[in-house]
Amino acid sequence: MDMQPIPAREGNHNLKDYQAKRKAFSWEEVKKNFSWYHTGKVNIAYETIDRHAENPDKKNQTALIYSAPDREEKLTFSDLKNESNKFANILKKQGVKKGDRVFLFMPRSPEFYASFFGILKVGAIAGPLFEAFMEQAVKDRLEDSEASMLITTPELLERIPQDDLPDLKKIVLVGDYDEKSDNYVDYYKEMENSSDQFEIEWVDLEDGMLLHYTSGSTGKPKGVYHVHNAMIQHYATGEWVIDLKPDDIYWCTADPGWVTGTSYGIFAPWLHGVTNVIRGGRFTPESWYGTIDQNNVTVWYTAPTALRKLVSSGDKVVNQFDMSSLRHVMSVGEPLNPEVITWAVDAFGLRIHDTWWMTETGAMLIVNYPVMDIRPGSMGKPIPGVEAGIVDNEGNELPPNQMGNLAIKQGWPSMMRAIWKNPGKFESYFINGWYVSGDSAYMDEDGYFWFQGRLDDVINTSGERVGPFEVESKLIEHPAVAEAGVIGKPDPERGEIIKAFITLNEGYEASDELVEEIRQFVKLGLSAHAAPREIEIKDTIPKTRSGKIMRRLLKSWELGLPTGDTSTLEE
Ligand code: PRX
Repeated sequence: MDMQPIPAREGNHNLKDYQAKRKAFSWEEVKKNFSWYHTGKVNIAYETIDRHAENPDKKNQTALIYSAPDREEKLTFSDLKNESNKFANILKKQGVKKGDRVFLFMPRSPEFYASFFGILKVGAIAGPLFEAFMEQAVKDRLEDSEASMLITTPELLERIPQDDLPDLKKIVLVGDYDEKSDNYVDYYKEMENSSDQFEIEWVDLEDGMLLHYTSGSTGKPKGVYHVHNAMIQHYATGEWVIDLKPDDIYWCTADPGWVTGTSYGIFAPWLHGVTNVIRGGRFTPESWYGTIDQNNVTVWYTAPTALRKLVSSGDKVVNQFDMSSLRHVMSVGEPLNPEVITWAVDAFGLRIHDTWWMTETGAMLIVNYPVMDIRPGSMGKPIPGVEAGIVDNEGNELPPNQMGNLAIKQGWPSMMRAIWKNPGKFESYFINGWYVSGDSAYMDEDGYFWFQGRLDDVINTSGERVGPFEVESKLIEHPAVAEAGVIGKPDPERGEIIKAFITLNEGYEASDELVEEIRQFVKLGLSAHAAPREIEIKDTIPKTRSGKIMRRLLKSWELGLPTGDTSTLEE
């Protein structure tokens, strides 16, 4: 769709001179905003929370507005400092040390954030898990990371296969529970008796702070390892892209189980000391608009799937709410439809600013600044300090308007430092000094980047990244399923849905009931978002001679596209 650029609004002044800022840019300047630059004492938890709690002008400011259907709560920076200190003392008492992996598996709540910062304060590595994960997904991540401790709720305990996790020494339970075990620690009881004084474990900028598991086209999910140094870019993008000002009320809709929910649901807003809205509960258009209206949200970071749902809920719904507090809206995770941008201009009088980045990149890389003219459908331009390009498979840069691999020159502050216990996988991201994203894109003559698709088999359903291998592995665990091939199928609302092709074992008859049973099996074993919405039973699944499932071919069949080179197809 060809659309006219939408010009920048007046009043947005940051980074007005983009070219000049790029030319004169040095990350050294950004570092001066941190207290460690002056004291030498590093910890991201200190910069995010304690620094404001020690500032008489800020300590009593609301840091967190927690809003869920059954609970409303406000915590100041001082509260968050004290609560996380208490939790850090619990961890210390339990013997948690620097570098240990401590996972969180629970819904968003004030306790989640207190625990999260407690983990960072002892110098441990936090591993937040999406609360909708089922047993297999939880097991894969705790096993691979060799997590020694987990914070969860009694309701979620049944999804944790404790007997299969020898490294998991302790489970902190947030809530009442009956079953007694030496491995359980009672969150509320321990917090009551814990001191709110804690000496933070000072670390190195290159020490680990976060493990986020994400999917590729092959194998189980990989642990993307981030270090404290990432805060430099969280801070910078918080200023340039999110445009945070001291009086802002900010809302990022992402769950902290995904990278957007940590980098931009936790670090960027609190590094800037702004009031951060955290919403619990399920999505409905009314509850989301209501969150903006009731809290007077000024800056909002969300995702295309949610925006598309808001569009389809109609003007009548949006008109019941007062959206006039909003000043700035951004999106991430999937292609942002130009129609949605046009809708937002009508509905809130605001443009939506697309941003592009990945779990691996730790922070935004290609963005639409507040001051930029938006070309609807484009992800925007690289931030200062970041060199983006389109490269061929050998890592040679391609000229404008030519499609290729979207790649970033190595060396930005928030880049992952490793794939947990998998150096080979980490190496495979790099060619000729470029980090190769796996996305295809082109750059126009004016330096705007345009997303075209994924180059691998990774599925993006409602902005959530799903690896086909994980779903296939779960499918073939079902006694009826012999073989499985899984693809992403384009969908107007969700971006893609998961479609599975399966063959049945002997003795099983195809039926709607069986298909539904298999779907439920994946949903209850892995997670709802990874369960195929469509399952088609076939006589055979196309494979290469070496036995690899040809997902590309399945996709071409599904979409009625030319099948291309099938010379490696098994007879
Ligand atoms: O394909 C791109 C898509 O999401 C992938 C990264 O997914 P994940 O690691 O889960 O991180 C999502 C949020 C940081 C990318 O490789 N993606 C991300 N942003 C955009 C996007 N696709 C199109 N437009 C975007 N703005």
